Amino acid sequence: RPVLVLNGPNLGRLGTREPAVYGSTTYADLVDLCERTGKEVGLAVEVRQTDHEGELLGWLHAAADAATPVVLNAAAWTHTSVAVRDACSQLTAPLVEVHISNVHAREEFRHHSYISAVASGVIVGLGVDGYALALRWIARQDGLAR
Ligand code: DQA
Repeated sequence: RPVLVLNGPNLGRLGTREPAVYGSTTYADLVDLCERTGKEVGLAVEVRQTDHEGELLGWLHAAADAATPVVLNAAAWTHTSVAVRDACSQLTAPLVEVHISNVHAREEFRHHSYISAVASGVIVGLGVDGYALALRWIARQDGLAR
């Protein structure tokens, strides 16, 4: 079962979207980075993005049923969605929350995450490298409970 790297709204526009905040790495580059990192550390990785909250919920439910580790950048839903948080609560394998930008250095409304309290750990502000770091950490867990 592959590790899932799940991305929420607007992240498909990475590279053209506010490059001063999110960098010039495109979404395709991000997919490539995750797949290459997975190969390096011996993990099958599947990267997905959606602008539809219900689709993300479905992916999280499937991950819960299959005990799949998840790297999640829920983007704006991080700050708004109790539903995404409740779906994350059902996961049994490691969950790493990632944000490309340092949300704590930005607007007040980005300082609170509904997800952090139910995540194994959080990586913020390290750019897309945060995804690679999250995958490397997951590769070293092997059965560690959340
Ligand atoms: C983000 C930070 C969120 O506040 C924002 O809504 C995003 C991206 C990040 O990766 O830095 O869409 O999750």
